[in-house]
Amino acid sequence: MDEKDLTPSGTETQGPRTTGAESKAFQKSGLDLLTRFYIVDKVAKIYDTKNDAFQERGRLLFEVLAAVLKSDGEASLRVRHGVLLFNGVRLKFGVGTYGMFKSVIEEFRTRNVEAVTFVPGITLEELYAFMSVFAKREKKDEASFDQLAADLDAAAVSHVEIEKMSAEEIPQGLHESSARLFFLSIVHLKESFARDQRNEPIKISTTRRLMQSIYNHIVEDEGFVYGLTNIKNHDEYTLNHSVNVCLLATALGRRLGLSRAELVDLGMAAFFHDLGKTETPLEILNKPGRLTDDERDIMEMHPFHGAERLALLKEFRRLPLRAIHVALEHHIKEDLSGYPRYFKKDDVNLFSKIVKVVDVFDAITTKRVYRTKDFTRAEALSLMLEQSGTEFNPVILKAFVNMMGVFPIGTLVALTTGEMAIVQDLNPDPKLVLRPSVKLITDPSGAKIDGEIVDLAERDAASGRFRRTIATALDPSKYGIEVADYFLAEAASAVRPGGST
Ligand SMILES: [Fe+2]
Ligand SMILES: [Fe+2]
Repeated sequence: MDEKDLTPSGTETQGPRTTGAESKAFQKSGLDLLTRFYIVDKVAKIYDTKNDAFQERGRLLFEVLAAVLKSDGEASLRVRHGVLLFNGVRLKFGVGTYGMFKSVIEEFRTRNVEAVTFVPGITLEELYAFMSVFAKREKKDEASFDQLAADLDAAAVSHVEIEKMSAEEIPQGLHESSARLFFLSIVHLKESFARDQRNEPIKISTTRRLMQSIYNHIVEDEGFVYGLTNIKNHDEYTLNHSVNVCLLATALGRRLGLSRAELVDLGMAAFFHDLGKTETPLEILNKPGRLTDDERDIMEMHPFHGAERLALLKEFRRLPLRAIHVALEHHIKEDLSGYPRYFKKDDVNLFSKIVKVVDVFDAITTKRVYRTKDFTRAEALSLMLEQSGTEFNPVILKAFVNMMGVFPIGTLVALTTGEMAIVQDLNPDPKLVLRPSVKLITDPSGAKIDGEIVDLAERDAASGRFRRTIATALDPSKYGIEVADYFLAEAASAVRPGGST
């Protein structure tokens, strides 16, 4: 099963979508408003309202605001459970906008503000005054909110309403630093690929430090780290994919009993497994439809190129030798078909076999231009089990399937109550594999909610029956749901910066 071979024709089904062009436009105006708010807030910390730079940015914010007020009657930004809502709807964020979301949420927190609502009648001067007062507070204290309210009164701002933050916005910490590590890894990999293309040395010591952090996070927060691998950023496919493969390979290696030192090496090897793709032309990497024989030959060179680049690295001695094996061997199948051609099974490194399993899993659960369907996580596992022994090493595959569970973390499920939920953590009791804990995302009528996390092993006290049971797994794309948003939202709700990264 090659990444490009999986093109089941006619399997694309368009179910009912809760998001369409309308909701896209809504997200866009929300993101516009947020971006301009963020910029003005930054500028207002340096300049006063008379300054040209401030006024120029302020006018841009006013423009979007006026458009939103005209169409929606109000424009509100609200922080709830660490998520930003624009006029009551969750704003989606991704790799590129994560920093901005976090910054705005922190600004709200510092002022103890849960929501800012702009109402019709606001003038440009009033907006300047509001932004200037809002931006000026640096430290959080008990009186933050009251002081802000008083300052706004004094500045005669009457068309902006603020609401005080409720006590339940509790910071979390660990999750936030896992997400931060995930994005740091992408940034580092991006830089490494760019350096490699310019023939500059890659900073292997930074990679090793990152891998040590990844190891620590997987030990402390395994489920959440899997959750992060739901992030599918189509523009930067290879980067995102490489980080996911690295996280999953490290977790799988741990399940297979590898030592800490081996896991750090495995993480590095997985991180660079597709380095050779920097030499594959983008037209081939992103070509919709099947490759011609010539194009396929070029595509199949990436293991050689990767191994060669790694062997030529100046800091070669700091890189595990097995990274070169993995780059070269990660497309070889268990029955020795695949590429490049190998003749003896024993020659294929254990690390390569581990990377092979998680590589295919991440590839087929991601939608690409040349594939009409991406598989749900549960579908991917059952499809892969069909190839046990031919494509995948059976022992490693079995450990992977066990690790991911019957309903892997991040699976969208329908419950017998009619609610929809996302699998949050697996049940540690092997007898209860069908009862993970899940986050509720709709009520029984199908209306989206920011629901609680419930344990499906929980029984009703009176009847002794399970309260909720999984009816079936669902395809998130048919319901317009981005699973990654829920994991990122949880990460963004944490306030403690730093952590062990
Ligand atoms: Fe590859
Ligand atoms: Fe790959």
